[in-house]
Formats: sequence, C-alpha cells, structure tokens
Amino acid sequence: MTVIGSDLNEAARLLTAGQLVAIPTETVYGLAANALNPEAVLRIFEVKERPSFDPLIVHVNSIAALQEYASSVPPQALALAQEFWPGPLTLVLPKKDIIPDLVTSGLPGVGLRMPAHPLALSLLRQLPFPLAAPSANPFGYISPTLPQHVYRQLQGKIPYILDGGPCTIGVESTIVGFEGDEVLVYRLGGLPFEHIQRIVPGAQLRLNASSNPAAPGMLLSHYAPRKPLLLGEIEKLLEMHPGRRTAVLSFRRDFSDIPGVSACEVLSPSGDLHEAAAHLFAAMRRLDEADLDLILAEPVPDTGIGRAVNDRLRRASAE
Ligand code: TXA
Ligand code: MG
Repeated sequence: MTVIGSDLNEAARLLTAGQLVAIPTETVYGLAANALNPEAVLRIFEVKERPSFDPLIVHVNSIAALQEYASSVPPQALALAQEFWPGPLTLVLPKKDIIPDLVTSGLPGVGLRMPAHPLALSLLRQLPFPLAAPSANPFGYISPTLPQHVYRQLQGKIPYILDGGPCTIGVESTIVGFEGDEVLVYRLGGLPFEHIQRIVPGAQLRLNASSNPAAPGMLLSHYAPRKPLLLGEIEKLLEMHPGRRTAVLSFRRDFSDIPGVSACEVLSPSGDLHEAAAHLFAAMRRLDEADLDLILAEPVPDTGIGRAVNDRLRRASAE
C-alpha cells in the first residue's frame, strides 16, 4: 500500500530502513533512497525500470557536503554552489569512494544537489545520509510535479509519498560538469544558463542529444507523453493534420475556440516563463490522459527558463 502524507518522521524512518520514499523538491518529485546503501539504490532502478547506465543525482543538505562526497571541488563549482544552493543546480564532481558505483552507473563523477524545497531540506537535515533520487516517474515518461502524479504511476510499489504540494519550478535541475578547465552545462533546467554565465562567464552548453557518457540519461526521446506530440507553429500544424482529435499545448494564447481543436492547455496567459515551466508537465499529463489522438505544441521564447521548457518540448516530441 502507498500512503500520501506529510509526516517527516515516517519518511525518515522508512528511508533509514532502506525503503524508498517519493519526496518533493522545487523542481519535480524524486524517488529517494539512502544513497550510501547499494541495496536501497538498486530498488530505485527496479521501481523506475531505469537502465543501469543512467546515473542518479545525490541530494545533500549543505554546501559543506561537497567536501564529504567529492574528491575535489574546483573553485567554479564552489562559487556556483555558494550562489545557487539550495536550488535547481546539480554539480557533477569526481566522487569519493563512499558513494557506491551503482549510484553513478560506474562513472567517476557524482551529481550533487542541495534542493530548496523546505520539506526536502528538513528531511535531509534529519538524516545521517544523503538521498539518491531520480525523478519519480517510470523511465522515459513525464516527470511528476504533484504527489498524485507519483501515486498514479508508482502506487503499490513504494510505501510513502511525502506531500509537499505542487513543485514551484516544474522542470528538472540544471546539470553542470567540470572537465579540465571547462565548465559545461549538460542539461538545461530550472536554473537559467544566463545565471550560470553570470558567475562563470566561460561556461558553455554541452547538451547531450544522445548517449554521451557524461550524462547518459539525456536521451533525445525523454520526458515524453505516450501520444504523439508535434512541435511547431500551431496554426500550420493544424492545417497539416486535419480531422484528428487534436489538443493544443500553447504558451499564452487560448486555441480552444479554433475549429479542429478539442482541448487546449495554456501554459501562461500572461506570458510568464516561470509560470509556463511550473505548469508544463502537469498540462502535458492532462492532455496525454485525455481522449485525444494528437498533441500540438509550440515553443516558448528561448530565453531564461524558457530554454529548459523548449528542451523538454523537443524531447517530448522526439520519436
Ligand atoms: O531536478 C532534478 O534534478 C530532479 C530532482 C528529483 O532532484 N532529479 C532528476 O533526476 O531529474 P533524473 O534521474 O531524472 O535525471 C538525472 C540525470 C541523469 O539522467 C544524468 O543525465 C544526469 O542527471 N546525471 C546524474 N548523475 C550523473 C553523473 N554522475 N554524471 C553525469 N550525469 C549525471
Ligand atoms: Mg528523470
């Protein structure tokens, strides 16, 4: 049986016993286990049906934890943590032996992140170990931004979902790695690239379209609904696909009165990119669960967190 509740002590008790608990973060819900317990970590891969080559992010409760789990911390990494932790930023750093190889899929680096959600932080501060946690969805599907999203897909498989309400950021963390002198962004996410460049002007994008060993999880087709999703200019797409039960996922304009549109989800009527990011995955899910054949989506302005939204839309539309 799976319980949804807000009892931190119960969550801590289960995690200490080696069990899995879904936890809220400001980005998306995570499926957490004791990162230092390989058997508990193995359960994450089983429950998610996640391939073992896809490493997990380790969630920590302080900046000081960098020294505990990373064997070296470049000055830029420390500067980024000091500026943006707690927050939607994951730093990939050479791991210490205490981090099991299973967590990093055998890679030499470990992804570390201090989440900003108050419940997640309280939980982490209560525990004597860090939490390995991927997004709490079956591998490849849309990430959960509500406890009910987790419940619908993982009920019966985990004992507890810690209810922290809707995720305020709504897209996963930005992942940054350090190779030689280079600072590289492997995944666009909740912390805009521009903010990273403010602290590290030389930071560059190195997004992984396919199976780059640096971040094997960034497969092109990911975060994807089961229904086909086409990305482009809505009116053109409508002309090209007449006579289907079609839904629209738009940025700010309401298309529900346009002939041929059965449902429309507007991400942000006021055109606010943060609001659009926070609504993205829930809106995608509602359309995926509705009685429709096809989802048509349009890109949002490609700036700030909008870049991460467009990245997720592109991956959702990939075959
Ligand atoms: O916002 C987030 O990051 C959420 C919340 C729960 O914290 N977590 C999340 O985890 O999105 P997940 O497992 O869905 O995506 C983690 C990705 C991996 O697929 C991989 O691309 C990258 O992070 N990653 C993790 N550890 C890594 C490592 N050691 N080296 C390179 N990439 C790593
Ligand atoms: Mg994920």
